[in-house]
Amino acid sequence: MQGNRYPLTVEVFPDYAAMSGRAAEIVVELLQEKPDAVLGLPTGSTPLGFYDALVASGVSLAQARTFNLDEYLGLPRTHPESYYSFMKRALYDRSDLRPENCHIPDGNAPDPHEECRRYEEAIRAAGGLDILVLGVGHNGHIGFNEPGSQWDARTRVVNLAESTRRANARFFNSLDEVPRQAITMGIGTILEARRILLLASGQEKAPAVRDMVESAPTPDVPATALQLHPNVTVLLDREAAALLHR
Ligand code: GLP
Repeated sequence: MQGNRYPLTVEVFPDYAAMSGRAAEIVVELLQEKPDAVLGLPTGSTPLGFYDALVASGVSLAQARTFNLDEYLGLPRTHPESYYSFMKRALYDRSDLRPENCHIPDGNAPDPHEECRRYEEAIRAAGGLDILVLGVGHNGHIGFNEPGSQWDARTRVVNLAESTRRANARFFNSLDEVPRQAITMGIGTILEARRILLLASGQEKAPAVRDMVESAPTPDVPATALQLHPNVTVLLDREAAALLHR
């Protein structure tokens, strides 16, 4: 792979609450220095504790701008499992974030490809992401960048891996209801964030975490792309760290 490779900084915590608290602390420190910081934000089960801790900190988000990583394509915004609805529940409705500062790709845009270009431009116009918080999929995906994704890819429409659809089926009535496509920031977009925090919890993430930290960078494991970024902190609970050698 081209480019410098940096060892990922890994911090291991006794449990999920401690890991989540540390993630919130890092974001709060940033907001204290830069109240209008631009935050890249994830969805999923993993960041729920982070959002709880961020809200509990009482930090003001009144000047902050947020950009979510991804959104399902074709799911109505009001569907309880759209990432927009997730963010409303997890953060938007529980903070002083201004609605006009909360950005998430529109999975119902008439022209999804144009929506991707617009989203990239909005990130650029905001001055880029100061920090991007990420989870990781079982197959090593980040955002919805599935194995095989190009590392210079920008925000785009992607097909979801069947394993990802099955993993996310727990939130829907049936596998059939899980969307087949999504809009996601690309790995190229992700790597332009000034700082990245990756959160992983639980033993089922341990293989992906081991590959992310210890494998040579390979598009087969999208999260290994993070080794090309000089400022990544990986926050883990003990179970997620269980297969690391060092
Ligand atoms: C989802 C999201 C990712 C997330 C991942 C893990 O499909 N698109 O951004 O990191 O899967 O989710 P969870 O935290 O629920 O395990």
